[in-house]
Amino acid sequence: MKTLALNNGATMPAFGLGTWKSAPGEVRAAVIEAVKLGYRHIDCAWIYGNEAEIGQALSELFEQGVVGRDELWITSKLWNDRHGPQDVEGALRETLDNLGLERLDLYLIHWPIAFEKGVTFPETGAQMLSLEKAPISETWAAMEKLVDAGLCRSIGVSNFSVKKLASLLETARIKPAANQIELHPYLQQPKMVEFCQQHQIALTAYSPLGSKDRPARLVNAGAPVLMDDPVVAQVASAHGVSSAQVLIAWALERGTSVIPKSVNPARLAQNLQAASLALTSQDMERLAGLDQHLRFVDGAFWARPDGPYTLANLWDEEVG
Ligand code: A2P
Repeated sequence: MKTLALNNGATMPAFGLGTWKSAPGEVRAAVIEAVKLGYRHIDCAWIYGNEAEIGQALSELFEQGVVGRDELWITSKLWNDRHGPQDVEGALRETLDNLGLERLDLYLIHWPIAFEKGVTFPETGAQMLSLEKAPISETWAAMEKLVDAGLCRSIGVSNFSVKKLASLLETARIKPAANQIELHPYLQQPKMVEFCQQHQIALTAYSPLGSKDRPARLVNAGAPVLMDDPVVAQVASAHGVSSAQVLIAWALERGTSVIPKSVNPARLAQNLQAASLALTSQDMERLAGLDQHLRFVDGAFWARPDGPYTLANLWDEEVG
């Protein structure tokens, strides 16, 4: 299986299982099935609300001897209300407790967005803290201490722009090992890919299949469905594979990690098989032509008229 060499010497399996939107009641079986099929990387987050069930799956897998802890790569993420340096270790310990683990492989700052402690989803802008009030550099220093304490092997970020990565690199003692962002043929982010290559920051592609099961509040009327794209379908039929498999192979071919979500055994197997699908340079060129800088997870839920965040200061780009 393809791996990515991180800037701290760790080796991350490029292909992993996404667990955002995997409901409690489904995710335990999905993780067990995935690991039995050969998945070795599981992407989690405190906010997904399913870590404890993933922990049950992991402990069953370890007890049954299906895999050892060191054969799995487990990522999780710090929620927005725990950016206070005094809260970071407690947040990781809660996640470790949920997952039944002593150490994570990778811990990410989930969003460059901060809330008052205890606020899971703010109801007013006043419950949000600006990055001036809750500087990322201070949260990052607390993340670095987690590595020093042996509670996670690598640290990184998620949903960070090039500008925010560059500013983090100025103060970081430990360089971020990874940035997890939305990436797929409709959102190719070539400048980000180039910046991360230059700075040895691994990219992980979330929502690689276009996240068609995203919550209704994230669905904009008229948004195209990535998996129904005719070019993707043509490439798929030329290889005798599915559109989902093309999208996964595309991400791996670009040198990123990719974490498609599924809770369905047949699709879990199909997605893993895509890790050995080779696309041609002509396929890659055709897929490159699909870019429309379209975010399915556009961050609009953090942009409130009464709060400190806007789409422009979240993504650090012109938002049309
Ligand atoms: P399911 O979990 O029922 O398989 P993303 O990873 O971009 O967030 O997309 C996840 C969505 O894609 C889920 O609705 C998931 O449904 C679906 N999905 C995952 N794998 C496949 C596949 N191979 N073919 C079709 N749909 C898939």
